[in-house]
Amino acid sequence: MPLPCLAVVLAAGEGTRMRSALPKVMHAVGGRAMLDHVAAAATAAGADELAVVVGAGAERVRAHLAKALPEASVHVQAERLGTAHAVLAARPALEAARGDVIVLYGDTPLVRPETIGRVRERLAGGADVVVLGFEAADPTGYGRLVTEGERLARIVEEKDADAATKAIRLSNSGIMAFRAGLLPGLLEAIGNSNAKGEYYLTDAVEIASARGLTAVVVTGPEAEFMGVNDRAQLAAVEAVFQARMRAAAMAGGATLSAPETVFFSHDTVLGRDVTVEPNVVFAPGVSVADGATIRAFSHLEGANVGAGAIVGPYARLRPGAEIGAEAHIGNFVEIKAADVGDGAKINHLSYVGDASVGPKTNVGAGTITCNYDGYFKHKTTIGAGVFIGSHTTLVAPVSVGDGGYTAAGSVITEDVPGDAMAFGRARQVVVDGRGKATRERLERKKRGE
Ligand code: UD1
Ligand code: MG
Repeated sequence: MPLPCLAVVLAAGEGTRMRSALPKVMHAVGGRAMLDHVAAAATAAGADELAVVVGAGAERVRAHLAKALPEASVHVQAERLGTAHAVLAARPALEAARGDVIVLYGDTPLVRPETIGRVRERLAGGADVVVLGFEAADPTGYGRLVTEGERLARIVEEKDADAATKAIRLSNSGIMAFRAGLLPGLLEAIGNSNAKGEYYLTDAVEIASARGLTAVVVTGPEAEFMGVNDRAQLAAVEAVFQARMRAAAMAGGATLSAPETVFFSHDTVLGRDVTVEPNVVFAPGVSVADGATIRAFSHLEGANVGAGAIVGPYARLRPGAEIGAEAHIGNFVEIKAADVGDGAKINHLSYVGDASVGPKTNVGAGTITCNYDGYFKHKTTIGAGVFIGSHTTLVAPVSVGDGGYTAAGSVITEDVPGDAMAFGRARQVVVDGRGKATRERLERKKRGE
């Protein structure tokens, strides 16, 4: 029976250095809001309740939470008076909590569930307060962890630290966890007589020690605790995230010939023996089944690629693209909201949207589904074993039955029955000698005759 745990995520950051209309914690890493990364990590580590502290007027964060994390309780910190004050904003959730409480920052999205799990284990092992720390390459700006033997005695913020304390490299990640029921009593004792005049959550450690409680440090790798205050830090965090995703894809059995040029989203799923060529972008919502190949310079979003399929080079799969097993999607082909059957081929310069294409059908170069009339979207239904001639224009709603053909260059405005051939083009007329006559007429004109 897992122990209950409340995660409190502080998301009231002003984010002024982002210079953005978007609240800081809503900025995306790997195609997902930073806040959602933190919430997902806490949940994966077993937190069964979530409280998010937002700033005043954070309507966009609230609206996002209502959709993305409807189970989270939302609390407003009206004034920004420090991290302890922020946690206190979630008082109803703290008081209702049945188990441990862990505090995380919404702008620190790289923390792993395993690391949070180690913090929870120390609580389960009897510690009262656990602080997640790290050996900082450069500790400037971080709270320093002052230990006495096995115990953490206190945390001293940079601005309040003397030279000896500043020399300590063991730093506070900001993630702190508290044994069930302790936090409200500790928060009440925290004052604001420090260099910043803020209510520091970090003071909870010294107060706990003075009360005979046990505070300890669990350490993790610095890269997990990178925070985001500006766009450069956002890019640095994105880079770490992408490196993780590339490593995970390869560990899972995918071949990435130039991994540093492939970009993933948080939810990209690659099967075994998938090959991804250079310069491929996976936007959110993509899965690629075993043995498929995504060739260079392709962009995929909201799409599923079947086993053994080949996509690209230079292909674009948009949301709702369902590519069957062994299908081929070639260069400069855009697929949107369309099922492409097993073994079908759409190899060159085509747009297929709001459509279904049956198995083993061949769609010729330059085929366009005209799915939109300026007001409504219409469907094109193409059966199995169909041959769509090059440069066919399919004016939806329209269908081509199994085994049907369309002649090259056709504009198809009416349904084509199975096994029929549709000619939707003017019949060719050949006039002997007309080319020569035209040439001579134009030459005379140019000479001014
Ligand atoms: C904090 C820690 C410090 C730690 C560092 C790690 C305290 C007092 N200090 O310092 O020990 O090394 O993080 O990055 O906790 N927040 C609110 N409301 C507030 C104040 C802060 O929601 O009133 C949120 C911020 O949005 C941010 C987080 O809490 O996500 C930390 O606040 P910040 O002001 O960045 O604290 P630091 O000075 O960096
Ligand atoms: Mg900070």
